[in-house]
Amino acid sequence: MHALELRNISKKFDGIIAVESFSLTLSTGAAVCLFGPSGSGKTTLLRLIAGLERPDTGEVLIAGHSVAGNNTWIEPGDRGLNMVFQDLALWPHMRAIKHLDFVLCGRDMSKAERNEKATRHLKQVDLESNLQKYPHEMSGGEQQRLAIARALATDPKLLLLDEPFAHLDRRRSDHIANHIRARMKQDGLSVIMASHDERDAERLGATLIPMFAP
Ligand SMILES: Nc1ncnc2c1ncn2[C@@H]1O[C@H](COP(=O)(O)OP(=O)(O)O)[C@@H](O)[C@H]1O
Ligand SMILES: [Mg+2]
Repeated sequence: MHALELRNISKKFDGIIAVESFSLTLSTGAAVCLFGPSGSGKTTLLRLIAGLERPDTGEVLIAGHSVAGNNTWIEPGDRGLNMVFQDLALWPHMRAIKHLDFVLCGRDMSKAERNEKATRHLKQVDLESNLQKYPHEMSGGEQQRLAIARALATDPKLLLLDEPFAHLDRRRSDHIANHIRARMKQDGLSVIMASHDERDAERLGATLIPMFAP
């Protein structure tokens, strides 16, 4: 069974094609990289997978289950995935640790367990000295690592990464990529990323999927 399957996905905005008849399969525990110039539809495809856009035609399947298309619609929060947005989408009024505590709320965990998990995930991306900081008190790279930690803390089966290393230097990018690769190996996490930089794909051992601007 595939972690993700896209069957002939198309999407237009105001009559202009953003994605045309796009198909893809992603094996469990593997990574692929949507690789192409700005405007080639990478972000649109990730948003279609996440359930933030509806495809005009085609079908999205996650772990063998249809989540969009063929008269099916599964809400984003019920797709077992998480996404790191290109603009990160951090919450300005929340401290770093609160970002993780917030996404873990509602799970069958005590406050102490949530705090332990949040701290552990932030340590894994080297943010242990930033736990009590607000996003505006953090550098671009620290903010990016917070967004990645927030996504991983929910234990997704499928991780969507939009230009995930854009704000990180080479050493940090390698470190974070190694951390994600460990999750792929240990937990069977599958990754679909978007990037215009081949080195990002190499870091995650991701197969390149060329995308072309229309
Ligand atoms: N919500 C939207 N409304 C109108 N046009 C959009 C919208 N989202 C994306 N597009 C258009 O779709 C095309 C693909 O954009 P995008 O998926 O962001 O590309 P990439 O991430 O590869 O840079 C672009 O022409 C963009 O302007
Ligand atoms: Mg984009």
